[in-house]
Amino acid sequence: MALATDLYTHKAANLFPKNAVSYYSLGSSRLRYCKCSRTPLVVKVNSIKMKEEKALLQKGIADFYNQSSGLWEDIWGDHMHHGFYDTNALPSVSDHRVAQIRMIEEALRFAGLSVDAEAEAGEGESTIRKRKSKRPKSMVDVGCGIGGSSRYIAAKYGAKSQGITLSPFQAQRANALAAAQGLSDKVSFQVADALEQPFGDGQFDLVWSMESGEHMPDKTKFVNELVRVAAPGGTIIIVTWCHRDLEPGEESLQPWEKTLLNKICDAYYLPAWCSTADYVRLLHSLSLQDVKAADWSQNVAPFWPAVIRSALTWKGLTSLLRSGMKTIKGALAMPLMIQGYKKNLIKFAVITCRKPDQ
Ligand SMILES: C[S@@+](CC[C@H](N)C(=O)[O-])C[C@H]1O[C@@H](n2cnc3c(N)ncnc32)[C@H](O)[C@@H]1O
Repeated sequence: MALATDLYTHKAANLFPKNAVSYYSLGSSRLRYCKCSRTPLVVKVNSIKMKEEKALLQKGIADFYNQSSGLWEDIWGDHMHHGFYDTNALPSVSDHRVAQIRMIEEALRFAGLSVDAEAEAGEGESTIRKRKSKRPKSMVDVGCGIGGSSRYIAAKYGAKSQGITLSPFQAQRANALAAAQGLSDKVSFQVADALEQPFGDGQFDLVWSMESGEHMPDKTKFVNELVRVAAPGGTIIIVTWCHRDLEPGEESLQPWEKTLLNKICDAYYLPAWCSTADYVRLLHSLSLQDVKAADWSQNVAPFWPAVIRSALTWKGLTSLLRSGMKTIKGALAMPLMIQGYKKNLIKFAVITCRKPDQ
C-alpha cells in the first residue's frame, strides 16, 4: 500500500504519496546508531521530528478553529461544511444553510442509511423495516466542528453521538448548543485526536467524518482508527477534499498543481492531500465491504462563491477583522479553492464502506 504513514509536513510533501514518502525516506541516509540501543539514530531523530511536526500541525488546526468558529457560526450556523446543490442550479441566499443540511442527507443516502417519507411511500412493509433497521443508533463524529451533524442525526434518528475535535472552543460550544437544544442526553463532545481516538473497539454503527479527513497527516492511521471504532456491520462515511486521481502512467501532480495546493494547505492547516482512488485502494486493502465513492465537486460549486459573498458584507468584514490573522488568511485563500475546483484539481469526494459483520 503506497499510502504514506508519516505525512506531517505539507510544505515538503504535497505530492502525495511519492514526495511525501521520500521526504522521510531513510533509504539514502547513512544510518548512525545510538550507543544506548540498537535503534538507528536517524530513525529516532525522524520520529521525534514527525511528532513535533504533528504537534505543530494540530496546534495550528486547534488555533484556527478556536479563532474562526465563532464567526462561522454567526454567519453560517451549525455546519462547517460545503452545501450540496442541484448541478447548474442558481441558489438563493437562503438556500445555503438548506444545502448544508442536504449534504448530510445526501451522504446518509449515498451510504444507504437514509429513510425518508417519499421513499417509504412507495415501499413495502418489509423494505421499510429493513431500511429502518439500518438507521444509526450510535455514532462517532470525527472532526465534529461545533457538532451540527451529530445534533442533526441525533434529532432525526434518535441516535447517540460522541464527537471529537482538536479545538477546545468547538467542543465547549458544541456541548452548549446540545444543552440548549435539549440533546445533552444524546450527544457529547470532547477534545481528542482522530488518529488516537479515546474509544474502545467496535463501538459505533455509524462512523462519520464530514470534512475532517483533509486535516489528517496520516491517512492510513486515520482510516484504521475509523475502522477500529466501527461496530461489526457498521457504516463508515468519509466526505472530504481530495486531489484529482492521477492518470495511468502519471506519477505525480503537475508542479503548478502542487504550488496551488501548498498555498491552500498553508491557509487551512492541511497536510499532504491524497486522491479519492487512494482512499478506495486503502479501504479495499483493509477488506471493507460495499466500498463506494463519488465526485460531488459539481454539486458543491456554488458554495465558495457564496462564502466569499458573505465575507464581503459589512457584518462579514467587521467580524473577520475581529477574528484574527488566521481567519483572515483563511478568507484570502477562498478564491484558491474555487480555482482548484475549476481546474479539476480539487475534488469533493464522498467515500463510504461497511465493516464486515465479523
Ligand atoms: C471543516 S471542520 C468540519 C466540522 C464538522 N464536521 C462539520 O461538518 O461541521 C474540520 C474539523 O476537523 C477537526 N479536526 C481536524 N483534525 C483533527 C484531528 N486530528 N482530530 C480530531 N479532529 C480534527 C477540526 O477540529 C474541525 O472540527
